[in-house]
Amino acid sequence: MQEIKFYNGENIPLELHKVRVVQKLHLVPIERRLEALYEGGFNTFRLSTKDVFLDMLTDSGTNAMSDNQVAAMMHADDAYAGSQSFVRLQKAVEDVLGKKYYLPVHQGRAAENILSVAYVKSGSLVPMNYHFTTAMAHITGNGGKIVELLYDEAYVINSSHPFKGNMNLEKLEEMIKLHEPKNVPFIRMEASTNLIGGQPFSVQNLRDVRAIADKYNIRLVLDASLLGENAYLVLQREEEFKGSTMGEVIKTMTDLADIVYFSARKLSSSRGGGICTNDMGIYKELEAFVPLYEGFLTYGGMSVREIEAMAVGLYETLDETIISQSPNFISYLVNALDSYGVPVIKPAGVLGVHIDAMQVCDHISQKEYPAGALAAALFLISGIRGMERGSISNQRDEYGNETYADMELVRLAMPRRVFTLSQVKYVEDRVTWLYDNRKLIGGLRFVYEPPVLRFFMGGLEPTSDWPQKLIAKFKEDFGESL
Ligand code: F0G
Repeated sequence: MQEIKFYNGENIPLELHKVRVVQKLHLVPIERRLEALYEGGFNTFRLSTKDVFLDMLTDSGTNAMSDNQVAAMMHADDAYAGSQSFVRLQKAVEDVLGKKYYLPVHQGRAAENILSVAYVKSGSLVPMNYHFTTAMAHITGNGGKIVELLYDEAYVINSSHPFKGNMNLEKLEEMIKLHEPKNVPFIRMEASTNLIGGQPFSVQNLRDVRAIADKYNIRLVLDASLLGENAYLVLQREEEFKGSTMGEVIKTMTDLADIVYFSARKLSSSRGGGICTNDMGIYKELEAFVPLYEGFLTYGGMSVREIEAMAVGLYETLDETIISQSPNFISYLVNALDSYGVPVIKPAGVLGVHIDAMQVCDHISQKEYPAGALAAALFLISGIRGMERGSISNQRDEYGNETYADMELVRLAMPRRVFTLSQVKYVEDRVTWLYDNRKLIGGLRFVYEPPVLRFFMGGLEPTSDWPQKLIAKFKEDFGESL
């Protein structure tokens, strides 16, 4: 992509789109934000958007749609079976992902459910570069276990390694030999490893994983939810692909996998999801689960309007100017926070900016959930809603013991083409203020802990009156400002 330089030398990401449909936001007073936190159990998932100013919870289903996506929704073909909207989507999947057989599902985790029900049984072990919450819940729910195999560098916060999402090849082979290939139903590679800071893998690493999969005759499954951004970073960082197109990188990656699945809520700025393959045998093994769990095979739980938006969104994944917007804004904010001294995951990855709560809140023990506390504190002082990606997002082990996350992160998601640069500067301003006042933040404890995926609906409370103290300092510094 052509670089655009500023005469004054400033290095800022320039928006290559214009804003034509807008939605009003509300920045409610800090007292109301405190009430909202108590009402939502200090869990940002449980906040109502009427209390949220900048919603950086996730990019899932919140990327801005293009004019062409919205226009396509108008010519959707309503039909239970045989809809032409589905035919258009099938063609988009084949054109963009290079897979002939496509099974529609209502979102990414539905694909994980089907793959786990079909292939995982008691005693199965699924090696992966890193888990995603829902993928892990489905695998363990079917009696299997996950094995995470990253290189040590992946856990280094302040790193310059371009591909922290790479699978550890030596450990992968060792693990397969130790547990025997028959107990390994598939290898899972996640594009842009969500939970360790949106870090990509290289195409070369995926090729090497493919070679191991072939050697032991194990299926290779690619979670392509964040494939567009992974491909964009390959263009930036992998020598072999300098000068390639997004389409070439994406196809090179999907060609290496037996099964590709995705959340269309991310990949194509729509809703929905899918599983696709070129292997008719695999297609037949999975086909029957779609009408059982999702809906008929030509809609899979999605509305036809979303199917149309998804087809157009898939083609737009090939457009570097669209896909680069979020990583470029992330990189801008990571650089700004890093130069102030706020510990953030580096190098800048995709999906969002990840603040290291373990360092920011080094006075809060993991037992009191530093990342959850930091996410709540940030919302309190700014109306910015981030997401806890730490121990609250972990699940208890098979004996019911708490397991502590490798990283305690607060993720500030940067959905595609949603925020303006002045909003990003507001985020920078409030995060740096909070960083300077970090010692005022205290811990959290559970008051309601659901048995599965507890982070979604769990309720917590502060372990002291730290929110009130933080408000007092905010008033001292900002007066009557919202
Ligand atoms: N895989 C990855 C890598 C994801 O990031 C997600 C969702 C899923 C699978 C599941 O897809 O939500 O459509 O069922 N990630 C969202 C997030 C929820 O906020 O990061 P889904």
